[in-house]
Amino acid sequence: MAKTITVTDALQLIKDNDYIVAGMAASEGRDFFTRIHELHGKVKNITIDNCLPLYRYECMNNELYKDTFTINSWFFSNDLRKAFNNGNISYIPNNLNLAGVRRLAHKKPNVYVGNATPPDKHGFVSLSLSNVYEKRMIEEADIVILEINPKFPRTFGDLEVHKNDIDYFIDVDYDVPVLPDIEPNEKDKKIGSYIADLIQDGDNIQLGIGGIPNAVADMLHDKKDLGVHTEMLTTGFMKLYQSGAITNKRKSLHKGKMVAAFALGTKELYDFLDNNPVVQILDGHYVNDPYTVGLNDNQVSINTTIEVDLTGQCCSESIGTRQFSGTGGQTDTATGAQRAKNGRSFITLYSTAKVLNKLTNERVEISKIVPTLKPGAAVSLSRNEVDYVVTEYGVVKLKGTSIRERVELLISIAHPKFRDELTKKAKEIGYI
Ligand code: COA
Repeated sequence: MAKTITVTDALQLIKDNDYIVAGMAASEGRDFFTRIHELHGKVKNITIDNCLPLYRYECMNNELYKDTFTINSWFFSNDLRKAFNNGNISYIPNNLNLAGVRRLAHKKPNVYVGNATPPDKHGFVSLSLSNVYEKRMIEEADIVILEINPKFPRTFGDLEVHKNDIDYFIDVDYDVPVLPDIEPNEKDKKIGSYIADLIQDGDNIQLGIGGIPNAVADMLHDKKDLGVHTEMLTTGFMKLYQSGAITNKRKSLHKGKMVAAFALGTKELYDFLDNNPVVQILDGHYVNDPYTVGLNDNQVSINTTIEVDLTGQCCSESIGTRQFSGTGGQTDTATGAQRAKNGRSFITLYSTAKVLNKLTNERVEISKIVPTLKPGAAVSLSRNEVDYVVTEYGVVKLKGTSIRERVELLISIAHPKFRDELTKKAKEIGYI
């Protein structure tokens, strides 16, 4: 049975060359990782894998500790991006449904550190906000340490673990990290309205990470009987459920339930999730498997990208060679949705971005629809798999089109001030 210890005790369990896996996003063991840098000078060569870490950890961000800790990540966050130049950080390429499975086939963790709710009367903790890979890692790790936090919502699905299968508990009571709800701007509303026009009553929705998908949720309150099969459960879904737009009644898989692999949002979302049997947090390997996604009739996937080239290749995770986020479940959900009966996938983006010109130190506006991706850009969604692309200037369907047709369609939704230049470049390349 799990023994309750302190963070200081837990740190003493760590040995030279240990490989530690952290839970994803809100499910990382915050207090343990906040102090693990104290092992610097006492142990050597510690590897930590994480995914969308939500705090600035000394072991990750302070270059003083870079010789002791190697950090690998399935999905970069703001703090990881800032830490990247320390030289001890690397990205693990992955489609999220296979993140844990492929990593486990490569190596097994010595230690897993995450968080959970207190045990229920039967002795089961709930892993609460993520089951992307966490339960699989718990099953394989030599030592499992869970921070037990009564403030985390008790969720159901496939993330209940018995205390007899855990080695150590650490009692904590920090607040659950929140992702604030941001008001949609005019561009978001336009993009949302184009997508809302193509969403039918009874559709089953997936919303990806980033500002636009969340804003799209705001435009769906007039729909009826929507369902949810998504990797990430957000505040937008909660609001659609509360307004009556989501009922999950017409789902062909997991009827009546909202299915997700992890959740991140506001305190209101966490209150909604607590002890709510409507929500099922299932194994990410299952939820995001394109085969599973495709079993949902009328599945609609809505994700965001950083840059699209004129052939439809989407770079959604890097700015040139600089890793910005991760592929996450973009390929999983976009390809899965297109397998579904009456399925559709939307890739959304603003037509332009403002980027810093290092010579003048000013922000200049560039087109996010480009003749060719930046050198080193990672193709997150292949041009073979892209379906609808949406900007504030319209929506185009690329599936089944030739490159010549794509060039014309994509230029028609580029910012007007970049259209002539894009046409000129497309001619120079020989696309048109
Ligand atoms: N060139 C250079 N910089 C660009 C750019 C481009 N083409 N497009 C965007 N940027 C910059 C923005 O200016 C912004 O910089 P800032 O942080 O200095 O302001 C930054 O990149 C982020 O852009 P933004 O549009 O605000 O990002 P977002 O928070 O809405 O996230 C993605 C967008 C694409 C990064 C995010 O959706 C993602 O990681 N997607 C891949 C994973 C995924 O889709 N998973 C789906 C299942 S959850």
